Amino acid sequence: MKILGIETSCDECASAVVENGKNILSNVVATQIPFHAIYEGIVPEIASRMHTDWIYGVVKEALEKANLSPNEIDGVAVTSQPGMLGSLLVGLSFAKAFAWSQKIPFIAVDHIFAHLYAVQLTETTPIEYPFLGLLVSGGHSIICKVDAFDTITILGTTIDDAAGEAFDKVSKHYGFGYPGGLAIDKLSQKGDSSAFNFPMPNLYKGEHRYDLSYSGLKNAVINQLEQFRIKEETLPEDIAASFQKTAIEILLRSLFRVIEDTNLTTVVAGGGVAANSYLRSRLAEKKHFNCIFPPLSLCGDNGAMIAGLGYQYLKRNEVSSFNALASSRVKGFKKYVKK
Ligand code: KG4
Ligand code: ZN
Repeated sequence: MKILGIETSCDECASAVVENGKNILSNVVATQIPFHAIYEGIVPEIASRMHTDWIYGVVKEALEKANLSPNEIDGVAVTSQPGMLGSLLVGLSFAKAFAWSQKIPFIAVDHIFAHLYAVQLTETTPIEYPFLGLLVSGGHSIICKVDAFDTITILGTTIDDAAGEAFDKVSKHYGFGYPGGLAIDKLSQKGDSSAFNFPMPNLYKGEHRYDLSYSGLKNAVINQLEQFRIKEETLPEDIAASFQKTAIEILLRSLFRVIEDTNLTTVVAGGGVAANSYLRSRLAEKKHFNCIFPPLSLCGDNGAMIAGLGYQYLKRNEVSSFNALASSRVKGFKKYVKK
């Protein structure tokens, strides 16, 4: 079964064809990064307008690369939540129109489930549920228990900024480049991560045991640099490396607590921040659990993870109505509170 996947929730206009939830026949990602870079952040209105201009060409290219015509597609899956509303609506409307014109099933999927599904596209043997999910992107920082491709329990999440957002804001402040995560990751390679001793949040009690917080770190790096200085000189690469180390250690501290408490030993990472080299190297050191990362090409937003996830719904005969709406936020995810 060949599923066309469409993803326009943020600044990537993406489409892919995936066979049987596994074999990627094509995966086209048209990034808008250069168009937002001058503003050092995503401008929602520009994003949705560019998706409108690009979506036809991107889907056409995905079909051509897969060597398929529209009537050879068995279903269309699209991100309907969460994301920027105007951008989501472009992909959602296009997917509905494609499915309606071809008289094929239409499946609206959740972007978070899709990021957690990405690893299933490239691992040789399917990863068995349950496992722990570490979803870290520009909009989300979630540590969860994943019981099925569509069932997760959120154990920990950020109480303020998302991890990727912190990278982006620090980078914007110091002019390190856009998008911030990749720029800081690269700059950090030349830096001394012990040049500044930035603070970690004190979220270890009660219901916040697994939660994350980035506003204190962000504030320290941007407004209180002097206070946390260890070395005398202020080098950009040292700021980047010290920030990156602390930002990732915040994530890891919560993740390690969850591993200890749940005894689940498989962690599946996803989202743009899962591309971070320090995060990858820190988790590679650990022998008592296995952390599986998608390849870099599937960490960020892409259509293949959407198509793969859509196939799983279709296999269960679950399709969406053409009345499906876009939603900027995810409803119904409750945080588990440890008693
Ligand atoms: O998953 P994604 O492409 O889009 C969202 O759903 O948000 O994630 C984008 C985020 C951005 O905040 C970007 O700065 C961050 O992922 N990112 C990174 C790296 N590459 C991208 N953060 C840390 N290290 C990286 N190498
Ligand atoms: Zn994403």
